[in-house]
Amino acid sequence: ADLTGLSTFGLPARAAELVCLESPEQLAELPSSTRPELIIGGGSNTVFVADFPGRVLLNRMRGVRMTPRGDDVLVSAAAGENWHALVRRCLDKGLHGIENLVMIPGSVGAAPMQNIGAYGVELADVFESLEALDRKNGKRVTLSREDCRFGYRDSRFKSADRGRFIICEITLRLTRRFEPATDYASLAAELAKRRIGAPNPRQLTAAVMRLRRHRLPDPRRLANAGSFFKNPIVDDETANRLIAEHPDLPHWRLPGGGTKLAAAWLIESLGWKGRSMGRVGVYAHHALVLVNHGGATTAELMALVTAITDSVEARFGLTLEPEPQLVG
Ligand code: EPU
Repeated sequence: ADLTGLSTFGLPARAAELVCLESPEQLAELPSSTRPELIIGGGSNTVFVADFPGRVLLNRMRGVRMTPRGDDVLVSAAAGENWHALVRRCLDKGLHGIENLVMIPGSVGAAPMQNIGAYGVELADVFESLEALDRKNGKRVTLSREDCRFGYRDSRFKSADRGRFIICEITLRLTRRFEPATDYASLAAELAKRRIGAPNPRQLTAAVMRLRRHRLPDPRRLANAGSFFKNPIVDDETANRLIAEHPDLPHWRLPGGGTKLAAAWLIESLGWKGRSMGRVGVYAHHALVLVNHGGATTAELMALVTAITDSVEARFGLTLEPEPQLVG
């Protein structure tokens, strides 16, 4: 089966088997296989860098339920729902908490994998629980926020328990009271530019959408997988040294200690922004995003990734890690 169109980065790849999942029941009945298994949703955070020797499960489970819980509403959405459509739907119902996460490409089921986040909000902030199938014993499990072990662009699904759980449905706790999160610097600046002091939900969503449209390429027009690298988190001593040498380096002090540095700035400062190598390149409006100009190969992507990480390592002594899951 051809996987090329199933990942937004669009590298050519094939799988031995491809199964489209419409329901958890279908999943439970699926004969077990000794070959490796991989589950994908919208494919915006998975990059196939080789053929996959096993079974790829395409999560297409649909459905959304809303259950009032005091001032809050529990929103349960099947893993195959589109994330952005869910955000819009909640907004239409007057439910708040995920405005800043509007327009993130991909499916609902992929959201907990990497604890999606943008403009000062991350999934973990509104996450209640999820339903998954444990492939270890075939049982359905409910996992709480603590169980998921969310971190910056991280969860147990991406690390220790990679491949173990198939996420069927996630539940968010949203609120009817609107408390906008507007501290993120570029978002605050965008609101200030339009003289919006206290945004209403529509204004907040619109501001985030303007930022994203301006900065991030639409994968339907220019193939990409969002940020290709994570922002490195370093100890405060290292951070202070780098900030002293490079006073413009954008950084965020983390509540539990440590400092997150803007990888986009590191990459841009080395002259990579807008540069291409073969059919891949660094997006002209955001240095953290790698793009496929069309027909790129894995070798071309890897050559660019290595060139960027080597130059960041040489100049700043930092190791950049890829943000999407590289499969193969
Ligand atoms: N910057 C540069 N050069 C650039 C782009 C940005 O110097 O080409 C600087 C900006 O000036 C800013 C800082 O870097 O001070 C941060 O930029 P931005 O606000 O765009 O955020 P980011 O840290 O680069 C992260 C997420 C994005 C998310 C934005 C907004 C990661 C790996 N990426 O990017 O998520 O949209 O914040 O919250 O954490 C994704 O995960 O795929 C993704 C797009």
